[in-house]
Amino acid sequence: MAAKTTPEYLELLNHAVSREIQVSLQYMLQHAKMEKLIRKIIPENILLDKTTYDAVGKFLREIAIQEMKHAAAIEERIYYLGGSATTKADKPYIGNSLSEFAKNGVKAEEEALTLYRKIIVEAGKMDDWETREIFEKIYGEEEQHLFKFQEYVNFQDEPEESGPLAVPLSEWRKIFTDDYFALLNKAVAAEISAIIQYTNQHEKASFLRLRIKNTPLEVVKETNKAKVVSDLLKPIFMMEMDHLEKISERIYLLEGEATYNPDPLPKVGETADDFLKLDHEAENYAIVLYRQIINEAMKRGDSKTRRLFEDIVSQEEDHYWTFDDYLR
Ligand SMILES: [Fe+2]
Ligand SMILES: [Fe+2]
Ligand SMILES: [Fe+2]
Ligand SMILES: [Fe+2]
Repeated sequence: MAAKTTPEYLELLNHAVSREIQVSLQYMLQHAKMEKLIRKIIPENILLDKTTYDAVGKFLREIAIQEMKHAAAIEERIYYLGGSATTKADKPYIGNSLSEFAKNGVKAEEEALTLYRKIIVEAGKMDDWETREIFEKIYGEEEQHLFKFQEYVNFQDEPEESGPLAVPLSEWRKIFTDDYFALLNKAVAAEISAIIQYTNQHEKASFLRLRIKNTPLEVVKETNKAKVVSDLLKPIFMMEMDHLEKISERIYLLEGEATYNPDPLPKVGETADDFLKLDHEAENYAIVLYRQIINEAMKRGDSKTRRLFEDIVSQEEDHYWTFDDYLR
């Protein structure tokens, strides 16, 4: 038997999950916003600044993925301890300039370090050595993130005050109305939902697979199923991350603001069959929504968004059929 736990202890670990999901979304959206910031660089500094923006943009994407892996590692541990991993995220703070990104990053990483020091101590008290080791490893990585963000806190790029001289919208941009952004943001919300759902299920499936080994009679088939589902979800998760990146990048480039709330709410389920059914539904939702976006983009003459969603919808269809293959 693994270490014993208490509800408070599991809650503490789930708090860590919530903030890992938060920062993963925070950094991915900041990464997506970088292109937009680059266009506002003042001409004299363009070479120096562009190099900095590119470096930070790349780093943000890398750590966004690393944070989601942290979330996954903690979720897996929660399932092993007999708990249920949360799909709720803390609120991300994005910002409007590179220095704001850095300040928000420093704040988030400092919060992580404080929380994880507490968890390391608690895990020690519970004789839960495995959890302690997981958090010691994560702690080291959060410290690296903190140092990295600290380098850019004083970067001079505070956004200018937008005075009365603000440029009126050019004719061609009038197609990008609020309701259009709201529609595009439904896609962002769906991608976030899928990312959280698939990550959680991936870890839960890997736990189910171990537990099933204890009941030899039903071993072969059901064991395979949990393993297959777990393996299936990983590459699909990476593609949803990619979709989130591309869709939010498009929204920011059009001067919109991307959402960070999942919609529909992620649903995990209890068994590998549940996962498949729920994921099948999630892909169906995305396909229907993205077809609607393609139509709307076509109507407005926004061919770039239309092409983007045509590519994405064909990948969602692949996901749909992959899940479909395993459903009875
Ligand atoms: Fe993390
Ligand atoms: Fe971090
Ligand atoms: Fe997607
Ligand atoms: Fe998908």
